[in-house]
Amino acid sequence: MADLRTRYLGLELQSPLVASASPLTGSLDGLRKLEAAGAGAVVLPSLFEEELAADQDQAGSDPDVGRGDQAGYGAGPAAYHSLVEQAKQTLSIPVIASLNGTSRSGWVRHAARLEQAGADALELNIYYVSSRPGLSGNDVEWHYLDVVRAVRRATSLPLAVKLSPYFSALANLAGQLVEAGANGLVLFNRFYQPDLDIEAMEVLPALELSSSVELRLPLRWIAILHRRHRVSLAASTGVHTATDVVKVLLAGADVAMMTSALLRHGPDHLRPLEIQVRDWMDRHHYETIDQLRGRLSQRSVPDPAAFERANYIRTIASRPVRRG
Ligand SMILES: Cc1cc2nc3c(=O)[nH]c(=O)nc-3n(C[C@H](O)[C@H](O)[C@H](O)COP(=O)(O)O)c2cc1C
Repeated sequence: MADLRTRYLGLELQSPLVASASPLTGSLDGLRKLEAAGAGAVVLPSLFEEELAADQDQAGSDPDVGRGDQAGYGAGPAAYHSLVEQAKQTLSIPVIASLNGTSRSGWVRHAARLEQAGADALELNIYYVSSRPGLSGNDVEWHYLDVVRAVRRATSLPLAVKLSPYFSALANLAGQLVEAGANGLVLFNRFYQPDLDIEAMEVLPALELSSSVELRLPLRWIAILHRRHRVSLAASTGVHTATDVVKVLLAGADVAMMTSALLRHGPDHLRPLEIQVRDWMDRHHYETIDQLRGRLSQRSVPDPAAFERANYIRTIASRPVRRG
């Protein structure tokens, strides 16, 4: 039977199927179900910078007083640390804690505390939308690197950085993030685009789950970045089916992360996926993930320009694919 073991952030995983940060990974019950269904690792929901600030405002009361046992969104740092501890006691798969914010303040202290709580690794989701015309791309990138360097100094945990796809020179930034101390890149964070309600004349927060069509963006960048830097690569956004999982592995990902598919179908969605990935490997005579990883990366395909601009004219001149 095909061997699904993989390495991510220096950790040994039994499977490349990883549950990314979501409400499902925010309760022990959800985490247990994900492990039982075959997740190779789990990323806990993020501890948000706004929660750290609120926590500091309360300094003088007792910052370690838990706010109930559920560490759902906004439950605060104490509940979050307790979730990490309990997850570590309960699960045998790696537990990756996540921090989400834009500045280095607070993160440094919390990175060290998450290490003490037993997290196996840390994912930094730098969710930053710059609307200031005076701020250049260089300034924004400097800011990212500053956060990564600061957290790197504060913890010896393996560090993944979850990025947005909106950079003008992602291959260059990836190298700089690795130099700043990132051990892994999660491609990509999915930004929630606000919508407008034209009757109520309001801005609406709009949260929609992804579909497989959105896989193309991470797929391209994983293929481009595979073996460019010494860094683990995680595909996030648009992984729904076994075909999607095989695609990101062939492009060069170490793990395939899923949120929308698991929210839509539940943790047991992982079971048939694992069987189908093994089945594909058997049919194509691959015994290990190592043998197939990166087989269709930019460095491996006969036409590397296929991942860049070269096929642009041919693609737009072809008939659009109809689905559904
Ligand atoms: C309801 C919901 C909650 C999420 N919470 C977090 C979070 O706390 N931290 C984070 O980094 N990403 C969070 N994400 C983003 C997911 O981890 C993932 O990167 C994104 O949904 C794209 O993957 P998908 O196409 O598999 O859904 C959340 C996504 C959803 C739908």
